[in-house]
Amino acid sequence: MHNGTTITQFIIEEQRHVAGATGDFTSLLNDIVTACKVISNMVNHGALVGVLGSAESENVQGETQKKLDILTNEVFIKSNEWAGHLAAMASEEMDTIYDIPAKYPRGKYLLTFDPLDGSSNIDVNVSVGTIFSILRIQGGDGAPTERDFLQAGTQQVAAGYALYGPSTMMVLTTGNGVNGFTLDQNIGEFILTHPNMTIPADTREFAINASNSRFWEPPVQRYVQECLDGKEGPRGEDFNMRWIASMVAEVHRILTRGGVFMYPIDSKMKSKGQGGKLRLLYEANPMSFIVEQAGGGSITGTERIMDLQPESLHQRVPVILGSKNEVERILGYHSD
Ligand code: AHG
Ligand code: MN
Ligand code: MN
Ligand code: MN
Repeated sequence: MHNGTTITQFIIEEQRHVAGATGDFTSLLNDIVTACKVISNMVNHGALVGVLGSAESENVQGETQKKLDILTNEVFIKSNEWAGHLAAMASEEMDTIYDIPAKYPRGKYLLTFDPLDGSSNIDVNVSVGTIFSILRIQGGDGAPTERDFLQAGTQQVAAGYALYGPSTMMVLTTGNGVNGFTLDQNIGEFILTHPNMTIPADTREFAINASNSRFWEPPVQRYVQECLDGKEGPRGEDFNMRWIASMVAEVHRILTRGGVFMYPIDSKMKSKGQGGKLRLLYEANPMSFIVEQAGGGSITGTERIMDLQPESLHQRVPVILGSKNEVERILGYHSD
């Protein structure tokens, strides 16, 4: 049995070294951790508590919402609105920003989240997750607006994800490396089990939804074809492929054993006027922060994701992330 470092202890000890820390941030992270424990419990009970299946609604991006997309969004709001640390929240499942109700004090942080990532997996009992990012509100005391959220990924104060897999894990960065915690269901605490997670620079494993291959652009076509050509091709090595359809699970695999994950721009998206599949503020930026902190790379194909200046709340971008040398190779293919 564990008598290890709890996530709360870990955050408090880390924050001791931050000049001017008031405890606000530690307390905010605690509320996020609580939300993820509640979601973990819901996901674990699945059909027993009637949470599977679709709702009769669509989100702002035109996706049919699952019941759990809506329920987990509620959990995040209820856990995080009351304590006075946040000025506003934004989520994949809400059309506009969520202002903190007047009965609660307003704080200095902004929270963005994807409450249930990989939600197409939920009904088939495959891994799902939650992704979040914390920003500091810049400027005046006025009511927060969408513009306050349009900060580059490099401005993030912290980012993390919870993975609801065979065990529930929380992986976190505050810009000081990446640490992983496993939920001990018996005591209800996340315990530090994966200190200092790093991504191997080289890999022979890639993840992409190959059903879109006819729509890909030439650099991605070339990269994947070279992987498929294996030992006989220009890479001179055999590659393996995975696709879980949950970005959290893919990123977690990459943090554990290396690899590349791609959801690139393609001609089908372009013809619909979409900039990519994944959302910059809820998915691409937090995952890029984690991946870079673990020594990996994260690009759109042509640019570093965290340098992008967001233009709108629900903006979508292409994402190519993982083992540094592979990501650099793909970046190179985009400029050839
Ligand atoms: P979400 O469930 O939050 O809408 O995100 C799903 C995303 C991402 O997690 C995953 O990598 C990808 O969509 C799956 O896409 P396909 O449906 O093309 O497999
Ligand atoms: Mn969705
Ligand atoms: Mn998602
Ligand atoms: Mn989602």
